[in-house]
Amino acid sequence: EKNGYDHFMLKEIHEQPAALRETLRGNIKDQVADLAHFNIDDIFADVKKIYIVACGTAYHAGLVGRWAIEKLARIPVETEIASEFRYRDVLWHPQSLMIVISQSGETADTMAVLREAKRNGIRVLAVTNVVGSAVSREADRVIYTHAGPEIAVASTKAYSTQLLIMYLLALHLARVRGTMPLNELKELTGELARIDGLAEKVFEQQNRIKEMAARHKDVQNTFFLGRGFDYAVAMEGALKLKEISYIHAEAYAAGELKHGPLALIYEGVPVLALITQDHLVEKTMSNIREVKARGAIVIAICKANLQESCQECDEQIILPDVNPILAPIVGVIPLQIFAYYMAIFRGADVDKPRNLAKSVTVE
Ligand code: M6R
Repeated sequence: EKNGYDHFMLKEIHEQPAALRETLRGNIKDQVADLAHFNIDDIFADVKKIYIVACGTAYHAGLVGRWAIEKLARIPVETEIASEFRYRDVLWHPQSLMIVISQSGETADTMAVLREAKRNGIRVLAVTNVVGSAVSREADRVIYTHAGPEIAVASTKAYSTQLLIMYLLALHLARVRGTMPLNELKELTGELARIDGLAEKVFEQQNRIKEMAARHKDVQNTFFLGRGFDYAVAMEGALKLKEISYIHAEAYAAGELKHGPLALIYEGVPVLALITQDHLVEKTMSNIREVKARGAIVIAICKANLQESCQECDEQIILPDVNPILAPIVGVIPLQIFAYYMAIFRGADVDKPRNLAKSVTVE
């Protein structure tokens, strides 16, 4: 059942190109994203505000969703962790819509928020991987990710397919609302349609990433940095590492370093820097110089076209060239592989990390 892989997690990491293909299927028509068959156009018709609510990795997908929907479809989005959202006094926007994201569709806090939204007359769209799950039964509309069963506690292919749905939704809404010229829509949709191939290319670096993990396996602390979409991916990379390798990992928005976290940097500490946002490279590089000056070992996860700019970094993982908006789908893969090997080299139980359950059905 592990298909020759040592662990479900590694198998699921490698299933991502296929899972992306499955999730893309039927959602692009005439070269543009088209989700009308999910019957969502009526619920989005007068929407002026979107809430995206989820937990853990699904929340990180929701952060990318926020940036993509705001950028492409120009609708204000608020993304929040379910366990926080449900206990605050939300100022429900009368023309709003709630999107809940949940791989299992059974997460207690996410369900509670879904019900609270409905009690307030807010319609709910669920993005889930499990047909017939609690979330799919109670939401007004459902879009399924087609990741297939995810067994490892650490979420990988569910995350990348959730990202894909976020992009498809952003592009669909952009088309319906006319917020993007058709040629740009087609171009970005075209790249999204090829994203499985780009994801596949990342595996060419697997051995390099494994060797990198071997070099860093004994560290106590790690930092993940990024700006914009890269910050969301940094958060996901840090969660993966702490979850399965038990190494302390923190993600910071690169621009926040000077406001405190820089004090934590010391000689030899690994800093993983995501560098995929062309217009932000110089800003991130100046933060990298600051951590390097304090002795950090900087591992750049950077797009091929930006390699030149990140030559000062100590180690590099090169990502295929991709539109910066879509970069999270490829950018997360090296971080998943890195977390996997760090856990392996430390002898941790990768598929069943201590203290954690696959689905958090109690509060
Ligand atoms: O099933 P869900 O997507 O609702 O689960 C949410 C989180 O519990 C989940 O993503 C968790 O953070 C993962 N173990 C992370 O790898």
